[in-house]
Amino acid sequence: MLACTLGRVSIGARSQSAEVARKSLLEDTDKSYQAPPWVTVPRSLLGAHPTFDNRLIFGENLRALRALAPEFVGKIKCIYIDPPYNTGSSFVRYQNAWTHAGWLDFMRPRLVLLWEFLCRDGFLAVQIDDNEFARLFLFLARLCGEQNLKVITVKMAEPTGVKMTQVITSGGIPKLKEYIILAGKAGIRGLHLERVPKDTWDDEYRIVLEGVNRDALLDLKAIIDDPSRSAGDIQRADDICATFSFALAEEVCRRETGGRLTRAWLHDNAWRIVRTVATSAGAKRLADEKRVTVAPSVPAFVIETAQKKLYVIKTAYNPSRPQPRIRLLFADDYLTVHPGDFWQDIKTTGLGDEGGVDFTNGKKPEALLRRIIGMTTQPGDWVLDAFAGSGTTGAVAHKMGRRWIMIEQGEQCHTHIIPRLRRVIDGTDRSGISQAVGWQGGGGFRYFRLV
Ligand SMILES: C[S@@+](CC[C@H](N)C(=O)[O-])C[C@H]1O[C@@H](n2cnc3c(N)ncnc32)[C@H](O)[C@@H]1O
Repeated sequence: MLACTLGRVSIGARSQSAEVARKSLLEDTDKSYQAPPWVTVPRSLLGAHPTFDNRLIFGENLRALRALAPEFVGKIKCIYIDPPYNTGSSFVRYQNAWTHAGWLDFMRPRLVLLWEFLCRDGFLAVQIDDNEFARLFLFLARLCGEQNLKVITVKMAEPTGVKMTQVITSGGIPKLKEYIILAGKAGIRGLHLERVPKDTWDDEYRIVLEGVNRDALLDLKAIIDDPSRSAGDIQRADDICATFSFALAEEVCRRETGGRLTRAWLHDNAWRIVRTVATSAGAKRLADEKRVTVAPSVPAFVIETAQKKLYVIKTAYNPSRPQPRIRLLFADDYLTVHPGDFWQDIKTTGLGDEGGVDFTNGKKPEALLRRIIGMTTQPGDWVLDAFAGSGTTGAVAHKMGRRWIMIEQGEQCHTHIIPRLRRVIDGTDRSGISQAVGWQGGGGFRYFRLV
């Protein structure tokens, strides 16, 4: 339903015919841009939608959304917006000072319409800070249903610099975090969040596997992860385990580097570092049975449980003890964690040059957009940002093989977004997430203005 009323809001999009709406968007082909023919996006990056028909709209977002509505209502998988926070601080490029009620009056019709743009299982992510968080949350709870909301806290600043001097003088508390209010059309589910590295090392991981190379351990880990493994795979796993020898990390590090054990060395060698843990009584019984069949000189072997789990067992243990630590766990499997609803791992400093554009105090880290787009979409899905600013959302969506729509009313549409996206398309933007996703260039966008 497009003409949606919530509180005092009424959106008159239905009164516009689809044709009139569409006609209010005029393409300026001089500003549209396609990659040169020799720069192509790998098909594998684009999923089921090989066309890369992205749109950049220059104009006021409520009008632009109404114009886009006939084509895009119900089609968008992820909407991310980073609207003015109403902090009162003056920004050269856009208004940022309303009364609280005035700000909500501004946001309300846009949010109502954006919610309509989402597909059945789409997500709306709104970034905001303390100034308007409470009012925005209550409004979204009514619009989207409170059960469909999740609030994520993101660390957006470091407790350093000028603000700390002021805070120390005044005895205040520095602002380090912002919020992302995530609303799922079908609830908060179906997200695929990448695990993030733990910032501490568990000191139990201090045994290094020697006598085995990285490829052999990768092969072993693949067999462990595959529940449909064959008897031949299990034999191969046993053969790999038979090559192990064990040494303490301190010794190996000293021998290989001549120096003391460091956190960096542990992380670099996590692929071959293990710890021991006890198993269930059932798994120990299986280990006891197999252990008597292997030669005492064999350092380790595998067992397969009734649930098709494959455990690596260290041969040297005392079977008469009730819970000996016989199972080996690999450090690289346990060094990452689910980021949960508190994202403190994304780098927020030194990003002034990201995308090759300076958008002081407004630009968001590409890594943050990568997480939001990555957890909510697949290649080929549509991503929309109606408060595009310097174009971070489109740049990241593009590099991730998602189709995008961005709307921006300020001159930054021409001074920031177009040059930034041209560099992405040409493959010359090596900043932000480019290297992490292996971006090489390709695709294009069409530029429209409102008439
Ligand atoms: C905080 S900035 C977004 C920054 C962006 N996330 C980035 O990483 O560059 C908000 C942007 O919304 C734009 N904006 C504000 N009101 C708008 C409106 N009614 N229509 C279109 N753009 C609008 C402003 O011009 C500004 O560029």
